[in-house]
Amino acid sequence: MNWKNEYRKKVSKPEVAIKAIHDGQCVVMGHAAAAPRLIQQALADHCEDYNDVLIYHMTTLGNNPCYTPRCFGHFRHVSNFLSANSHDVVERREGDFFPAYFKDVPAMIGTDIPCDVAVFQTTPPNAEGYCSLGVSCDYAQAAIHAAKTVIIETNEMMPFTYGDTLIHVSQVAHIIPCAYHLQELQLPKPGEVELSIGRNCATLVADGSTLQLGIGAIPDAVLLSLSDKNDLGIHSEMFSNGVINLIKKGIINGSRKTLHRGKVVVTFIMGSRELYEFVDENPNVEFYPVDYVNNPLVIAKNDRMVSINSCLEVDLQGQVASETIGKRQYSGIGGQVDFIRGASLAREGKAIIAMPSTAAGGKISRIKPFLTEGAAVSTSRNDVDYIVTEYGIARLKGRTLQHRAEDLIRIAHPSFRPLLAEEYEHRFHSPCPSLS
Ligand code: COA
Repeated sequence: MNWKNEYRKKVSKPEVAIKAIHDGQCVVMGHAAAAPRLIQQALADHCEDYNDVLIYHMTTLGNNPCYTPRCFGHFRHVSNFLSANSHDVVERREGDFFPAYFKDVPAMIGTDIPCDVAVFQTTPPNAEGYCSLGVSCDYAQAAIHAAKTVIIETNEMMPFTYGDTLIHVSQVAHIIPCAYHLQELQLPKPGEVELSIGRNCATLVADGSTLQLGIGAIPDAVLLSLSDKNDLGIHSEMFSNGVINLIKKGIINGSRKTLHRGKVVVTFIMGSRELYEFVDENPNVEFYPVDYVNNPLVIAKNDRMVSINSCLEVDLQGQVASETIGKRQYSGIGGQVDFIRGASLAREGKAIIAMPSTAAGGKISRIKPFLTEGAAVSTSRNDVDYIVTEYGIARLKGRTLQHRAEDLIRIAHPSFRPLLAEEYEHRFHSPCPSLS
């Protein structure tokens, strides 16, 4: 059948398309800025018609109407990455978190994560009937292949992106043509602490490096310190607005990349409208599924790979907690460990964890004798490489427990060093040299 005829037959309205979702089913929804907002709204508006529907997605941005108390009891949410808007749903036990590397999600879809219905946001079809997955490639292809029913919102404002982002009109059951602005990520303005961390990280970035940038306030601060570098590349789970300037100035040009030379490689992006416009029909940016982009063996093919991620606390052995504040699940592991392992395997690779030395307005040291009770270890002491704060750099790889503790105390906030040094003395029966 001519794809245009097929398209016309499949065009639907959100409140009609949701009738394809039935009680007890599992729905896999698009990620972050690619969440299908019209279907979410229609489900929330008609929540009384549903019982026991499980919804899987990674991060959601802004307001998710299915999280409102009216929907409780009708929908349950499950995710391996929490964000500001999902904490409350999990605390009220209307949703739950499961620990999993982001790269494993495509393989879990259809098995550990049932997928009766897949709902995604795409561009409208091109001349051949292909829609682009736009700003989130990650697990979309896996879900679209696994689902019994596929619904897409073909949003005129979704950027058309390249890589492995195309799905054909023939693969879907219901099409909802629409035009709405993508959800934007509020970008934190880096303060003096973040800028100092950025400068310290920049000393570890050699010309010709390929970068991975994690999530949070630190990555964009690091990018601000890279304006005197040359020939950088990007192979990253995600990035935000910080890369635009460096690409426009030719500092990020991918010319020395040893995999996908000349291309920025990513699985999803979150940022402002400027970022979404930047990637629209941009042949230099390629989006691939997360099981490819975050695969440590793929990452390792990038010589001079530098991964830069952040965390919540580190203990004196170098165990890193990035996703829990004590017993509370705050975010998820994402691709942190995969990029640390990939960078460690890469020729001349470096894996950086960068964080402010304190949290909660300076009241809490992020370098601690022990992780807070209940915290999950995200990056183990065997994987950790560099830890960076505004006070300097500690290289932990290959170092003894005693040297690790000494170096971590040296980059802790000065007001917490005496307390940490007491623990050092207790553990190693000698005064801490970082204090002398
Ligand atoms: N104890 C108590 N509270 C702490 C804390 C600690 N050790 N560390 C941080 N906090 C608080 C902060 O004060 C802040 O509170 P506020 O929101 O009230 O100001 C909050 O927790 C968030 O901390 P912050 O450091 O600002 O977070 P961030 O937005 O920069 O994100 C991570 C940092 C670690 C949460 C984020 O990078 C993450 O989730 N990483 C894991 C996943 C990952 O690395 N993926 C990489 C591939 S994309």
